[in-house]
Amino acid sequence: MRRKVVAGNWKMNNDINATVDLISALKAGLKSSEPKSDVIICPPFTSLETAKELVKNSNIKLGAQNMHFEENGAFTGEISAAMLRSTGCEYVILGHSERRTIFQESDELINKKIKKALSSGLKPIFCIGETLEERESSITFDVITRQIQKGLEGISSLESIIIAYEPVWAIGTGKTASPAQAEEVHSFIRNLLTKMYGEKEAQSVIIQYGGSVKADNASELLNMPNIDGALVGGACLKADSFLAIINY
Ligand code: PGA
Repeated sequence: MRRKVVAGNWKMNNDINATVDLISALKAGLKSSEPKSDVIICPPFTSLETAKELVKNSNIKLGAQNMHFEENGAFTGEISAAMLRSTGCEYVILGHSERRTIFQESDELINKKIKKALSSGLKPIFCIGETLEERESSITFDVITRQIQKGLEGISSLESIIIAYEPVWAIGTGKTASPAQAEEVHSFIRNLLTKMYGEKEAQSVIIQYGGSVKADNASELLNMPNIDGALVGGACLKADSFLAIINY
């Protein structure tokens, strides 16, 4: 059985004070009972060091939202995998649709980042998903296939990778994919991964759903057979709603 994994993508939110408040509230909420899902939070770079101290001795794991694929050097404004490791990160979100669309990240660039993350001991949360235009043109499965094949090119195992299916039209819009719509794509992804990596790896890999996941729609989504957790944006910024999703 795959255990559910719920990750919070804070995006460009929360300064240090807000980081302390939110993590403290999360910890208090998680203390009373064993959470139903594994929990990852992905604060902005500036909050990672503070978060590292706060999540010590808790069951909250730490992730970042992006990284550069080079080891170090003249890349003004960028952050390396080793820097993330040194702030206690275990995970890194890569290929988020906001990176793809606003910052023009290509499948090839994302592939380089995934390789660097893996060779540095970070676990990528690899995001894929179609735009509304692509869904309406009935090319969702082609887009997903391209993103997966190019993103994972040259990568021999899924062992340290989480996949996050995030239909772009559902991100931050309040519009969620219906459980059946999401399950259809998740099962397509697992079949594709079975062809690429074999049954055993494809059955073990966590495939999260993301896109307007809220306390009141989490359980119907997370109860689908191929949805193994959630990548949560807006609803992870308040402890109550994030905790409700974790314990869906
Ligand atoms: P949302 O964001 O939950 O606010 O839609 C999800 C994401 O972008 O990961």
